[in-house]
Amino acid sequence: MTLLSLALAACVAGCKKKSTEGAGSATGTGAGTSGPGTGAPPPAQRPSQGQLQAMPALALPDDPARDAKIALGHALFFDKRLSGDGSRSCYSCHMNENGLGGADPIAIGAGDKPLTRHSPVLWNVGYMKGGLYWDGRSATLEEQAKAAWGGGNLGVGADNLEAKAKEMGAIAGYKPLFKAAFGDDAASVDRIVQALAEYERTMVCADTAYDKFARGDKAALTEEQQRGLDVFLGKGQCSACHTPPHFSIAMQVEGGVYFNAGVGTAGKDEAAVDVGRMKVTTNASDWAAFKVPSLRNVARTAPYFHDGSAATLTDAVTYMSNGAAPNKNLSALLGNKNLTASETSELVSFLNSLDCAGTLAEPKLP
Ligand code: HEC
Ligand code: HEC
Repeated sequence: MTLLSLALAACVAGCKKKSTEGAGSATGTGAGTSGPGTGAPPPAQRPSQGQLQAMPALALPDDPARDAKIALGHALFFDKRLSGDGSRSCYSCHMNENGLGGADPIAIGAGDKPLTRHSPVLWNVGYMKGGLYWDGRSATLEEQAKAAWGGGNLGVGADNLEAKAKEMGAIAGYKPLFKAAFGDDAASVDRIVQALAEYERTMVCADTAYDKFARGDKAALTEEQQRGLDVFLGKGQCSACHTPPHFSIAMQVEGGVYFNAGVGTAGKDEAAVDVGRMKVTTNASDWAAFKVPSLRNVARTAPYFHDGSAATLTDAVTYMSNGAAPNKNLSALLGNKNLTASETSELVSFLNSLDCAGTLAEPKLP
């Protein structure tokens, strides 16, 4: 798909959503009660008061060994022995205190070697239909885990993975975990990445204040947050890309959805710009395009963007609403929305309603 058709697809999804909401509120609390002349705008003009979607449950195929795989993956996710130099676990770059994202603007891998991008937030990765990573280069969580393990993140080296898997399997405490998950205690690369992926599918964030509000608890959002939701769905047009209930259209479309938001292009030579999605597809229309990140837990995951270039949530929101960096490929959906300072702060206040209450428990390592 070209960027333009992606943009149209997003717009269609956004527009469809809005018209559904309009219809919902017209048949609900009803335009009839507050027609022209009654002063207050009719509820139908406030998208926050229309029909909203809460997060669905994550549907997974039956697997009687799933819990055992999760237990194994949980230990492995936190285990620094999985890395080449013993310095890092998966968890090191996706920690509770950073909302399961990263604290460093650009992540620092094993051997203290900087990677090229910011650690994304792992909440709800199990919902993604392919397109893992900022550029969508991994098709599955298993493939992604293998890449992070063999690559610079954990620094084992792709060729050394089988040997590392054997090393993990030789740790006495891991043997019963492998046996419970896979029927015998042999460790392998495939089994390890399967277990990591099953554990990641437990990172579900589906009961935020927004979800409660969408399910009918009208006290779950403050009045200011409801106004922020109006801006999010209406004037700010954020929902065209950060589409509820996932708050990312990328999680709702096979293979993900990518846009050029101008991040990392300003004041740079074209040759020095991270080409993002274009590296995967080789399409010029994907130049400097990145996956739309979910905004769940966003208030707890500074800094922001694929390059960690926005230090605060207000900076990131202001950038997205009132001035994404112009460049040869900027998405047409990112024009200046001219939000006022109070609309911006309402928007930020609404984004706080997407906080995920959960944390990952630190396991006792085998
Ligand atoms: C050194 C820090 C670091 C470590 C260690 C690390 N990651 Fe990450 N992770 C990142 C960065 C940076 C990205 C984004 C890279 C990119 O998009 O090019 C990422 C991306 C991901 C994604 C994709 C999320 C999305 O929204 O598409 C998943 C899933 C993930 N990591 C899981 C893991 C697992 C599993 C491990 C352990 C095997 C791990 N990470 C180890 C930094 C790290
Ligand atoms: C054209 C699609 C599009 C629209 C419309 C859009 N965004 Fe984004 N948003 C993105 C993309 C793509 C990124 C990632 C950009 C990057 O890092 O290169 C992003 C990133 C963000 C981030 C940083 C998230 C993180 O984890 O780093 C925030 C916050 C954000 N957007 C808020 C908003 C708000 C608020 C609005 C409405 C005013 C909005 N966006 C409108 C596509 C969009």
